[in-house]
Amino acid sequence: ATNRTFTMIKPDAVADQHIGDILAMIEHGGFRIVELQKVTLTPERAGEFYAVHKERPFYGDLVKYMSSGPIVAAILEKDNAVADFRTLIGATNPANAEEGTIRKKFAKSIEANAVHGSDSDENAQIEGAFFFKS
Ligand code: CMP
Repeated sequence: ATNRTFTMIKPDAVADQHIGDILAMIEHGGFRIVELQKVTLTPERAGEFYAVHKERPFYGDLVKYMSSGPIVAAILEKDNAVADFRTLIGATNPANAEEGTIRKKFAKSIEANAVHGSDSDENAQIEGAFFFKS
């Protein structure tokens, strides 16, 4: 599992028709798309996905935002996938994201930040299994 990570293209980026641009940046970054699914999360499912943030002040807004429209979930494969994908997406807050990163290009705010990327091999496994049963 060390060569896989999990990502979501978030509702703002899907609504703005950036699925293709973002998947292109992912593939050009050397990641192979293993699984891919466009789906709309219910507030219950979004809350479950982000349960680790339940006590954070932004949790309620985050759940509302993540269930506001379709997202694209994917499992990606590459050597050093988790760390390399976090480099490709850039900082959570787009104000701090490096040039050339997905968030620098497409994120609108710290909440509507275009993409999610797993922060560890363990979470990549858990998050991937949340969407893909294999
Ligand atoms: P993500 O990497 O998917 O993990 C948690 C998400 O919560 C984050 O991206 C943002 O979409 C959202 N969020 C909103 N406010 C904050 C904040 N202050 N710090 C971290 N994440 C935030």
